[in-house]
Amino acid sequence: MISERVRNLKPSATLEINKKAKELKAKGVDVINLSVGEPDFDTPEPIKDFAIKVIKEGFTKYTDTAGIQELREAISNKLEKENGLSYSPSQIVVSNGAKHSLYNIFLAILDPGDEVIIPAPYWVSYPEMVCLAGGVPVFCRWDKNFKMDMEHLKFLINRKTKALILNSPSNPTGIVYEKAEIDSIAEMLIKSNILCISDEVYEKIIYDGKKYVSIASHSSEMKRNTVIVNAVSKTFAMTGWRIGYIAAEKEIADAVSKIQGQTTSAPSSISQKAAVFAIKEGQALYSEMVNEFQKRRDFLLKNLPEEFFYPVPMGAFYLFFSYNEMDSLTLCKQLLEEKYLAAVPGVEFGADKFIRISYATSMKNLEITVDRLNDFVRENK
Ligand SMILES: Cc1ncc(COP(=O)(O)O)c(C=O)c1O
Repeated sequence: MISERVRNLKPSATLEINKKAKELKAKGVDVINLSVGEPDFDTPEPIKDFAIKVIKEGFTKYTDTAGIQELREAISNKLEKENGLSYSPSQIVVSNGAKHSLYNIFLAILDPGDEVIIPAPYWVSYPEMVCLAGGVPVFCRWDKNFKMDMEHLKFLINRKTKALILNSPSNPTGIVYEKAEIDSIAEMLIKSNILCISDEVYEKIIYDGKKYVSIASHSSEMKRNTVIVNAVSKTFAMTGWRIGYIAAEKEIADAVSKIQGQTTSAPSSISQKAAVFAIKEGQALYSEMVNEFQKRRDFLLKNLPEEFFYPVPMGAFYLFFSYNEMDSLTLCKQLLEEKYLAAVPGVEFGADKFIRISYATSMKNLEITVDRLNDFVRENK
């Protein structure tokens, strides 16, 4: 009954851990959930109030397939002001979250057998989406800094390579690419005429005063070869509102809009208006949240067991560590059963000796977490 395409979709290895965590919780055990992929903060009140006003005013009908003009203008202004990038509203398409934007892009650009290079460790959905769209995911190794190994990248590029996914700040590692690194990647992509799908959803969740660099700002050539993917989801704690977008060459934007026109139509009219409000207000709505994430990250860096091995996260809200070369499923299972800590096994992200914890949880929970992790290490030397 079910298509081969969907039968081949990988079931999630996290399910087993989640099931166990739920069973323990149901028994009254105090499980700390460190597997969360969204801010623990509520959507800021002014955004909620604005959306309620919009509903009352009756802005509740279908909108333009690519998103309301007002939102595409707000995004265009944001890209100009904050990233120094000039995109007209007609080069922007709004979708149901960055996830939907990404899937639309793969549908728009991939023919059967086209390859997409995905640097590991990677966000779980990239390879599955590429396969669903008929493409072939190809994985690039990481170097000692958990960034893509440039020699391996060079080796992987061939006639079938259509695109490279760049995700900075990264889920799951939190690493952020520096300008010089972005420049080398851009030069290689320009030379080989490969598209860069730049997933920038954690753009604003960045630490130590670092300035975010989008690969599209490398040069006009690179801008033509880039599809920017972003969303209001993480920046404004609006994951449930489902607003993401792409900015790209008009040919790609038109193709994505065409797909959307025959499948989902535009996302919720109300969420689109709320996103206009959020993007226009900008930093005032998220700086406190980002400061808090940085405090939590600093707390973890200071208090995690010395035996853990990890890249220092410079953005996003995850920490990706290994301990004693343990395989990720065993480590996750043991942490859950012995210390009631729920994390995500790295095997999901293409790194089976690592696990991901999220610090999108309260400082109190993180204090308990580090105590339990230190106990775990003492008991499992
Ligand atoms: C790297 C990355 N890209 C995209 C997404 C999807 O974002 P959205 O909720 O806007 O679909 C996520 C969500 O976890 C993510 O971590």
